[in-house]
Order: sequence, then structure tokens, then C-alpha cells
Amino acid sequence: MDLYEVMKTRRSIRDFTNEMIPKEVLEKILEAAYTAPSNDHFRDWHFIIVTDNEVLKKVLGGVPKNLTVKDVDAMDFISDPIQKESYQVAVPKQYRMLMDAAAVIIPLMRKKADIMHPRNFSDLNCFATVWCSIENLWLAATAEGYGCNLRIPQGEEERIAQRVLGFPDEYLIPCFIGIGRPAKDAVCTKQIEINMKEQIHWNKF
Ligand SMILES: Cc1cc2nc3c(=O)[nH]c(=O)nc-3n(C[C@H](O)[C@H](O)[C@H](O)COP(=O)(O)O)c2cc1C
Repeated sequence: MDLYEVMKTRRSIRDFTNEMIPKEVLEKILEAAYTAPSNDHFRDWHFIIVTDNEVLKKVLGGVPKNLTVKDVDAMDFISDPIQKESYQVAVPKQYRMLMDAAAVIIPLMRKKADIMHPRNFSDLNCFATVWCSIENLWLAATAEGYGCNLRIPQGEEERIAQRVLGFPDEYLIPCFIGIGRPAKDAVCTKQIEINMKEQIHWNKF
């Protein structure tokens, strides 16, 4: 697949087969992550790859297991029927999509500023750069025929994962990434149509 094909093919995959991923392939995908641009040239990202189910259960100890479509009704920020449908697909799978993955990759970024109270946009660079690496990883996984999903840790989820994984306090988990071979009947969410022409501006807004 060429790059454009990979980008078009990349989707959030929340349903997997039980096929494992060879270590060399995971390493190749992680190598792609490290080709991402970094603001300070350090590429100071770490990745913890969890393939052991018992460890994973502990790492995901804070992720809600029994969410249903009803929980989506309580999300008052949803403003569009397609968006609502997408949440109805994704929300009930938040725990299973990680537990059923062949591996869960946990990126770590070093907190170089108080990103919850940034003084300026530059304070958020450490956050921005780790997300560049995550997108690279996701595209590389797609090119290798695997699928990924993301979960942003909420509430105590990060603290629980940190306790199990034992990484130092100066690191933060931007997301959990489930990776595996997409199931034949994997459900991808509908996307809200956009008109690119209305959103791309030449010389003037
Ligand atoms: C910053 C960010 C946070 C996301 N958080 C979650 C999440 O917590 N749980 C989830 O299932 N998907 C999450 N997603 C995936 C989106 O739901 C998904 O990218 C979107 O629906 C578009 O679908 P696609 O990835 O298949 O193109 C997140 C994506 C991004 C970029």
C-alpha cells in the first residue's frame, strides 16, 4: 500500500481476531513511531507493550467494563446523530477493545511543562509530539495489515496503570492503544461528511 492508501485505510478497529503479532512486526511499527517529528529533538517517548493478559487486566483496572449505549445518552456534548451513532458503537467496547487486542501499546510522554495549565502553546509541545508518534504508529500498523484503537485514560485509569507498570511520575499516558488483526466483521463507525472545499482556504479565510 502506498502512503495515501494507508491513510485512507486507517480506521479505529475495536473488534479483533485472536491472532498474535510477531515481536519483529511490533518493533517495526514502533520504529515508525520514532520517525515522527519532535519539537526538542529528544524523541523522548517511551512505549510499554503489554501482551500478557494478566498484566493487562491489572493495567486496565480503572477502565469501565459495563458501559452501554445508555451511557451515551448522558453525554450532553453530542450534537449530531452520526456522532451519537459512533459513540454508541464505541462506548460499550472501551474495555473489550483493549482486552481483546493482541497487544496494548502504552505511549509515555515526559511532562516537560504543566500541560494542564500551559503558559503558552509551546508548553504543549511534548503532548503534540507524542501524538505525532502515535499517528505514525497507527499508520504503520495499518500498512502491516493490523488495526488500532485508542482510549484516553479518564479519572483514576492512568494512576492505576502507572502503579502496575511502574513508570516514573514525570511521565504521562496520553492514550492506550489496542492493536491486533481486525475481525472480519469489525465495525467501523460512520464519519460525518465534510466538504473539504468549504474548509480549505486559499490566501484568505
Ligand atoms: C484524540 C483522540 C481521542 C480518541 N479517544 C477515543 C476513545 O477514548 N475511545 C475510542 O474508542 N476511540 C477514541 N478515538 C477514536 C475516534 O473515535 C475515531 O478516530 C473517530 O471516530 C474516527 O474514526 P476512525 O478512526 O475510524 O477514522 C479517539 C481519537 C482521537 C484522535
